[in-house]
Amino acid sequence: MRLLVTGGLGFIGSNFIKYWFKKHSRDTIINLDKVTYAADKRNLVGIEKYNYTFIKGDISNPKTALTYSKDVDAIINFAAESHVDNSILNSSNFVRSNIIGVHNLLEAVRKYEIRFHQVSTDEVYGSLPLNSKLKFNEKSKYNPRNPYSATKAAADHLVNAYFNTYKLPVTISNCSNNYGPNQHPEKLIPKTIINAIKEMPIPVYGNGLQVRDWIYVEDHCSALEIILKKGEYGETYLISANNEKRNIDVIKSILKELNKSEKLIDFVNDRPGHDVRYVIDARKIIRELDWRSKITFDEGLRLTINHYLKNLDYYNKKMVI
Ligand SMILES: NC(=O)c1ccc[n+]([C@@H]2O[C@H](COP(=O)([O-])OP(=O)(O)OC[C@H]3O[C@@H](n4cnc5c(N)ncnc54)[C@H](O)[C@@H]3O)[C@@H](O)[C@H]2O)c1
Repeated sequence: MRLLVTGGLGFIGSNFIKYWFKKHSRDTIINLDKVTYAADKRNLVGIEKYNYTFIKGDISNPKTALTYSKDVDAIINFAAESHVDNSILNSSNFVRSNIIGVHNLLEAVRKYEIRFHQVSTDEVYGSLPLNSKLKFNEKSKYNPRNPYSATKAAADHLVNAYFNTYKLPVTISNCSNNYGPNQHPEKLIPKTIINAIKEMPIPVYGNGLQVRDWIYVEDHCSALEIILKKGEYGETYLISANNEKRNIDVIKSILKELNKSEKLIDFVNDRPGHDVRYVIDARKIIRELDWRSKITFDEGLRLTINHYLKNLDYYNKKMVI
């Protein structure tokens, strides 16, 4: 296969490229990435031994999207502005990359009739009540509640509309919170690990009781592989490893693993409009595509902590406090 991976220098995209080459070493990947602050070439050190080409480019430029979509078998789109806090400060780039960018890719897909997969998020469904057993599924109503999730929701609607109108070979996945190597230290788990190692205060929004559903990034990649290969066109698949956890408990697990004091926890003002609970019911992808997650939360957390311990000097320099 010749794959166009967009946003492949970021957290999940870089893990996906490595995952893909491990399993399909003779395939070709073109990685088209704008190289925003979230990109890191170091995420793909050693990748040159495969059929890999890196292109610096922006999917919100229609010509760029068209040029690099020509002659590929499939596009998998990870390119996005991904940090909710940044979208609250200024959402212009979110609209450009997450909506206009996807529109440009869909136009290319329409022109060249190629397979397209949109990597989306559970945040498009909004927030669930804290003390409930409710979960999101493929029939849940879209209800995005911050600028980031609104742009991701808009992109999903475009993909579905292009399927309905033009019958294109497209699929969408909405995945829960990822963790693992290569995640930018602005995000909860890497920031907690790095601050804990340095014995610095660990900022926690509000009371820390918000619930997220965690998946190790490699499990997300295996779900994407199976959707690319076996997913039915026009369908959406929700992905989760069934790890519902309160933020405060995730932080405490990291502190315990690193043998550090809970006194480092620093409760700070809550994020405006903070969603309290996201949890996914992944039975459709399990039932229809026979996908299973493999890595338990404890195992994944240990792998992640080891990654940041090994590369501490490097991440220290990148750290946003
Ligand atoms: N991280 C999660 O927990 C999570 C969960 C579910 C879904 N997602 C989705 O997965 C995708 C990847 O997330 P991530 O955490 O790896 O993000 P990330 O911020 O780590 O990486 C995004 C990458 O996209 C690139 N990029 C941004 N705008 C671009 C543009 N206009 N053109 C080309 N490249 C561009 C950046 O340079 C960066 O390399 C996103 O679409 C996100 O919405 C993430």
